[in-house]
Amino acid sequence: MTDSHYFDAKPAVSSHRRSIEVALPDISFTLITDSGVFSREHLDAGTKLLLVEAPDPPVSGHLLDLGCGAGAIAIALARRSPASTVWAVDVNERAVALTDENSITNGCVNVRAVLPDDLPEDVRFGAIWSNPPIRIGKAALHAMLLRWLDLLTDDGYAVLVVQRHLGADSLAAWLGGQGFVVSRLRARAGYRLLRVDRNRAERSPNRDDSAGVDACNRGTPAP
Ligand SMILES: C[S@@+](CC[C@H](N)C(=O)[O-])C[C@H]1O[C@@H](n2cnc3c(N)ncnc32)[C@H](O)[C@@H]1O
Repeated sequence: MTDSHYFDAKPAVSSHRRSIEVALPDISFTLITDSGVFSREHLDAGTKLLLVEAPDPPVSGHLLDLGCGAGAIAIALARRSPASTVWAVDVNERAVALTDENSITNGCVNVRAVLPDDLPEDVRFGAIWSNPPIRIGKAALHAMLLRWLDLLTDDGYAVLVVQRHLGADSLAAWLGGQGFVVSRLRARAGYRLLRVDRNRAERSPNRDDSAGVDACNRGTPAP
């Protein structure tokens, strides 16, 4: 029997759609989920932490939900930043189609759900929000992050949520070693919420210093 993963391009499992409610302090919406797509049963706890605790996104420009799944992050970005264009990318075709459908159903006309290679070449992001696919393996994860972080604007930043036991701290150190400034915004319930700034000169004030920012920057090379 072939293993099936939520990050397969074409999930082998049959479709079993259901509806879940996403309730956040400022917005709520209904999401259709499906088998073969990440977190069919409920909004993932890490995703919820990101959606509750991330700083407000830029009010305009291009934003990215990296690894969109059913589209919860894209829809939250679109609702909170209606003048922006929100790109939602995923390697899973069922996920991209679901995000497109969920965006339309929720009236988010500013969401563009695409496969990674279908992003127009000239797009640069003011913010990237992601619950990244740790389970694809370290090499693939690193390659994916470098590909998309490279598309940040000079003052752009990413917000990533990662479980501590899945390597959040070593990922933060690795990103620091790549020249990014990594700040820990929150540490809660086994998750780390990381802010990744592209430009070292543009350090962000949105840090929760008590959460141990310095521990995230161990790998940052001296300027
Ligand atoms: C942890 S899930 C998060 C899904 C959704 N954002 C959420 O929070 O519910 C990570 C997603 O990344 C996608 N993914 C895996 N490899 C990818 C890649 N190379 N580029 C873009 N997305 C990828 C997976 O298919 C999966 O949908």
